Amino acid sequence: MADLYPLVRKILFSLDAETAHHATLTGMKVADGLGVLGCLTGRCKSGYDSESAVEVMGLTFPNRVGLAAGLDKKGEAVSAFGSLGFGHVEIGTVTPRPQPGNEKPRLFRLKQHEAIINRMGFNNPGIEGMLENLTRSRKGFSGVLGINIGKNFDTPNEDFLDDYLACFEGVYGQADYITANLSSPNTKGLRDLQSADTCCTLIERLQEKRAEIQDSHGGKKVPIVIKIAPDLADDAIKALAAVFSETGVDGVITTNTTIERDAVAGHPRAEEAGGLSGAPLTEHSTQILALLRSEMEDSIPIIGSGGVMSAADARAKFDAGAALVQVYTGLVYHGPALVREIAEMD
Ligand SMILES: Cc1cc2nc3c(=O)[nH]c(=O)nc-3n(C[C@H](O)[C@H](O)[C@H](O)COP(=O)(O)O)c2cc1C
Repeated sequence: MADLYPLVRKILFSLDAETAHHATLTGMKVADGLGVLGCLTGRCKSGYDSESAVEVMGLTFPNRVGLAAGLDKKGEAVSAFGSLGFGHVEIGTVTPRPQPGNEKPRLFRLKQHEAIINRMGFNNPGIEGMLENLTRSRKGFSGVLGINIGKNFDTPNEDFLDDYLACFEGVYGQADYITANLSSPNTKGLRDLQSADTCCTLIERLQEKRAEIQDSHGGKKVPIVIKIAPDLADDAIKALAAVFSETGVDGVITTNTTIERDAVAGHPRAEEAGGLSGAPLTEHSTQILALLRSEMEDSIPIIGSGGVMSAADARAKFDAGAALVQVYTGLVYHGPALVREIAEMD
C-alpha cells in the first residue's frame, strides 16, 4: 500500500501543533479499535517478527524501537502505537496528582529544521487517571510497556522523593519498566535532581521500595531506568556514570530535549522557552550516549533517544552503544514508515 503519511502530514501540519496531536491520537484510537490502523499505516499484520526480538533489562523487547515518553502522556493509545510496530511504548510522564501543564501555546514545529520546541509541563491525568486509561488502551498490546514518572510542578524540590516513590508504587503493577524522568526542562528545578548525590539517593530509595513491594506483586522485579538531559557537562555525565555503575540501576535513557538553540538560531520560534527535539538534537544526543557508554558499567543498557529521524540515525545510536532506541519527533516528520524501517534493521 502506498505510504499515505505525506498526505496525512500535510493535513496535520495545517493545524496548530497541539490540535494536530489530539486529532492524531483520536484517529489512531478509532482506527485501532476497528482493527485497521496497522493496514492503513502500511503494516498489514498483527504482532511482531520473532527474529527482531532482543533481551534487555531481563525483558523481551519484540524489536529495538520504542515510542519515547510524552506522546502518549495519558496512556490512552498503547495498543494503537503497538499496531504501528513499536516494540515498546513509554507512556507519561505521569505525576501523582493530575495537572494541566503550562499555558497554551506550548508546542511549536520548526519545520525546516525537522524539530519541535515544547514546554508542555507534564500535563497528565495523574496516577489514577492513567491506570484507568490503561485498562482499555493496553488490550491487545504484546510489546513492552514503560511508565515514565515525575513530580508535580507544585511539589517543592526538597519533597521530590515523595512524588517519585508515590508514582513508582502506584504504577508498579502495570509497568514492565519504570523511568524516573529527571530531565524535563519544563518543570522548574527538575534538572537539579540530576546532581550525582541526589540521583544516587533517588535510585537507592526506588530500589528499597521495589524490594519492599516486590513480593506483593508476585515477585515481579520491575527495572528502574533514569532519563537524563543532553545539557550536562562531561564531568557531570562522568559523575552520573559512576552513580549508575555503583547503584546498579537497570537502564539509562539518553537523552531528553535540549535547551540549546544554536542549531536553530534565526528561526522565528527559536527563542520559545522549552525543550528542543528532532534533527538538531541527533548528533549531540548520540555523543552523550557514547560518553556515558564509555564511562559506565557495560552491563547497564542505554536507550538512545534524541533526533532519531532515520534508520541511519538509529544505526549511529546502536553503534555508539545503545541497546534500544526511542522515537518521538521523527514520527511526527516521517510517520510510521520510520518505525518499520528501524524495527526491520539488522
Ligand atoms: C511534545 C513533547 C513532549 C514531551 N514530553 C515528555 C515527557 O512528558 N516526559 C519525558 O521523559 N520526555 C518527554 N519528551 C521528550 C521525548 O521523550 C524525547 O526524549 C525527546 O523529544 C528527544 O527525542 P526526539 O528527538 O525523537 O523527539 C517530550 C518531547 C516532546 C517533543
